[in-house]
Amino acid sequence: MPSVKDRFLSMLINSTDYISGENASKELGVSRAAVNSAVMSLRNDGYGIDSATNRGYLLTSRPDRLDCGSIGAKLSPSRMETLTVLTEVDSTNNYCKDLARKGAPEGTVVISDSQTGGKGRRGRSFLSPPGCGIYLSYLLRPRTGIERISEITCWAAVSVCEAIKEAYGLDSGIKWVNDILMNRMKICGILTEASVEAESGAIDSCIIGIGINVNEKRSDFPEELSKTASSISIENGGKTFMRSDLAAVLIRRLDELAGGWPSLHEDYLEAYRSFCVTPGNRITAFTTMSGDSEGRSGEALSIGDDFSLEVRFDGKNDTESLKSGEVSVRGLYGYT
Ligand code: BTN
Repeated sequence: MPSVKDRFLSMLINSTDYISGENASKELGVSRAAVNSAVMSLRNDGYGIDSATNRGYLLTSRPDRLDCGSIGAKLSPSRMETLTVLTEVDSTNNYCKDLARKGAPEGTVVISDSQTGGKGRRGRSFLSPPGCGIYLSYLLRPRTGIERISEITCWAAVSVCEAIKEAYGLDSGIKWVNDILMNRMKICGILTEASVEAESGAIDSCIIGIGINVNEKRSDFPEELSKTASSISIENGGKTFMRSDLAAVLIRRLDELAGGWPSLHEDYLEAYRSFCVTPGNRITAFTTMSGDSEGRSGEALSIGDDFSLEVRFDGKNDTESLKSGEVSVRGLYGYT
């Protein structure tokens, strides 16, 4: 259940005029004292709230904070009920997986301001410092076979690109299969984890984990990531972006994904093809399982109907269809 503070913050964000203490306490179903204490606590968090006699409260400035109230302000009031916003967690995917095990419904979202053990693909870690990124996990209960898990990740990549465009008006692209790039640098990664029903092979729960670098500065990235990783802020002249705005739009896009799965296959495929920047480039493919360190080079041609990558390898006449999970692809722009 969202707190009084969260619900009052949503009211303040959505109001262009003063809200009287009396109206706030009626609408929230709490005492005037509870409203006063919410105001004090919000001011402590950095929200600018003007109070005027006989008029009430008006929000005058907002810090860049990931609060349930600021994310929920852009969603329907009931949507806040399945939204958990944390300051710190080991991994939002782990937290969300626990909720899924306890029977949480599809659409459950866990967001954290930081992660102490953020997980990336292939056992790597995902840098998740406080105060700059969005670390979000979304619970899907898709009831389709496990073989379609990578397609869900591709749909999520589309959702991220569309959300960045809607929230900030900025273009981004997908490096096959699911890294989101801005100006050829990685600004977002997606890790999807599923639990499967042993008998039927159907996915029981699927956690879509999305990490977006929003306001990181260059100095936030260690040397080994400096050539590949960046943030939306760095790629846009150091401007600070409101993370809660993007988080809210992303949740809406993921709700659309959940509602459209799997029938909107054609729409997501078309959108994926339009965002994916890999075709037309030279790539090197590495077989994930075999510890392949040399890789094979060739030209990426197109995205197949199952979101595979069609490649013509050097010295071959035929094309090959690469499936995500089996291979990783390197060699795109600044991203090597
Ligand atoms: C990758 O690029 O390798 C995937 C990174 C996925 C990171 C996100 S952050 C939210 C969620 N929780 C995690 O522990 N990982 C994912």
